[in-house]
Amino acid sequence: MRGHRFFAVKTMLFGAAAGALGMVGCKPLPPSKPASEWTPEEARGAQVYQRNCARCHYPTTTAGLHGPGLQAITKVKAMPSGAPPTDERLTAVIARGRGEMPATRLDDAEMQDLLAYLHSL
Ligand code: HEC
Repeated sequence: MRGHRFFAVKTMLFGAAAGALGMVGCKPLPPSKPASEWTPEEARGAQVYQRNCARCHYPTTTAGLHGPGLQAITKVKAMPSGAPPTDERLTAVIARGRGEMPATRLDDAEMQDLLAYLHSL
């Protein structure tokens, strides 16, 4: 009986802790910004994405194509590799490639637009 109670309390504490942490890891992904609300920068970034990324990454789901789906990629705590999705890290992955992902040559303006778009996902 005592053991059972202890377990119940632990379960409750865990639930409270998960709630307190905002359940960063397991809540449903925040929705992407609809195309109708894109800024000009995000709209240009979407074109950069279509040209350079779309053949390997779905933007609207985390399901994989050739690489992982990128929905909410900048809103998660860690990308599939475990690295945090900072602009620096994204820029490095895009510019240098990673594993099976080829490097993509973009000028600074294209990279900024693309990052803005990735933040909208
Ligand atoms: C030829 C297919 C291909 C193209 C084109 C491609 N990727 Fe990838 N991408 C991959 C693969 C495969 C991985 C998984 C790499 C790994 O972790 O080994 C990946 C991983 C990633 C990751 C996750 C990195 C991490 O740290 O987990 C991001 C973000 C990403 N790609 C963004 C992009 C963007 C933005 C573009 C366009 C500029 C792009 N990719 C173009 C195949 C591709």
